[in-house]
Amino acid sequence: MPRRIIPLADVSAIPDFSGAATSPSGLLTDTLARPLRDLRISVTDRCNFRCVYCMPREVFDKDYQFLPHAALLSFEEIERLARVFVAHGVEKIRLTGGEPLLRKNIEFLIERLALLRTPEGRPLDLTLTTNGSLLARKAKSLKDAGLSRVTVSLDALDDALFRRMNDADFAVADVLNGIETAQAAGLAPIKVNMVVKRGTNDQEIVPMARHFKGSGAVLRFIEYMDVGASNGWNMSEVLPSVQVVERIDAHFPLEPLEAHTAAETAQRWGYRDGSGEIGVISSVTRAFCDSCTRARLSTEGKLYLCLFAVSGHDLRGLIRSGAGDDEVATAIARIWEARGDRYSQLRGSASAPSRDDARRVEMSYIGG
Ligand code: GTP
Ligand code: 5AD
Ligand code: SF4
Ligand code: SF4
Repeated sequence: MPRRIIPLADVSAIPDFSGAATSPSGLLTDTLARPLRDLRISVTDRCNFRCVYCMPREVFDKDYQFLPHAALLSFEEIERLARVFVAHGVEKIRLTGGEPLLRKNIEFLIERLALLRTPEGRPLDLTLTTNGSLLARKAKSLKDAGLSRVTVSLDALDDALFRRMNDADFAVADVLNGIETAQAAGLAPIKVNMVVKRGTNDQEIVPMARHFKGSGAVLRFIEYMDVGASNGWNMSEVLPSVQVVERIDAHFPLEPLEAHTAAETAQRWGYRDGSGEIGVISSVTRAFCDSCTRARLSTEGKLYLCLFAVSGHDLRGLIRSGAGDDEVATAIARIWEARGDRYSQLRGSASAPSRDDARRVEMSYIGG
């Protein structure tokens, strides 16, 4: 029987900004002392791929109701919210989707965001996650608009397998061409993200490592996660990252590298012959919630505090009700200060939100 998800109901209340105003200080922390440093903004819930682990075709079919245009945050609204988040301490902004390059004139948004500065006057780390299908066409205009770098998702080099996994008949050669064009345009360092599903594409680990070794791109292997409510996740399909490292090390010896920052999702490994590095993102076997500084803004302007949240805070409602920047800043401060989410650490324990909860937000709606 095809799995069904309940369409996301608009149940969030407009956030509270009553009481004393909180001016942004860049020092905001949540209940677990985690600062707010990264904002991931989803600019569309649509995608031209139907990856089996993210937008399975039996759920995201021709009857699926994507958001109408009026529901989306406009570029002006996104920029305004981003400015307040930056005042609160955000240093990195990632545009996601769905597929962000499907959003019309995305370059105009990038141009605006590239002008933002941290309170110390530094530009942001402004990046984007894409499936790469439109990258060859767009790389130069993205760079010209002020994008710092890109991350490209790629789950296999074998063309037949790749087409099965994206379930939309996209060829691997187009994505590889997109990666090379982005590199040539200077959108570096390019990261390539591969979601590993045991029994589906784990035989591609070593070929992918071989392909990107020495290319300058950083290949990262992501443990398949139980995100959303539609991918039918099962622990037996997770290949623990330690095994990914073992398999690559057997062909190309690796050594651990120091983390760039404490909040990094990936553990870094370098090739002993000096030809670059890989990363492993162990969201299932080695949760990194302790250092999670990420907030997510959905396509329709809801603020989610965790990838596994069941509800968001309606910032679109807040700004469309006429709130001023100081009220928006106060509302965001209240929301972040109350945050205690750490789903991956609790996964499987009694206090974790249920995996069967059909309200769990989809990755295509809040971005990866
Ligand atoms: P870089 O700054 O480029 O290193 O980015 P990043 O690793 O923070 O972000 P990216 O979007 O490349 O993350 C890669 C993958 O890690 C995502 O697609 C998710 O699968 C996973 N991931 C990222 N952030 C989180 C998070 O907050 N929680 C969990 N559980 N997984 C995450
Ligand atoms: N588990 C892990 N990563 C996922 N992504 C999407 N769904 C999942 C999942 N279930 C990642 C994809 C893509 C990004 C948008 O999110 O790798 O790179
Ligand atoms: Fe689209 Fe990315 Fe989801 Fe694949 S993982 S369906 S490319 S949003
Ligand atoms: Fe952050 Fe939630 Fe992911 Fe933990 S599970 S790292 S709290 S987004």
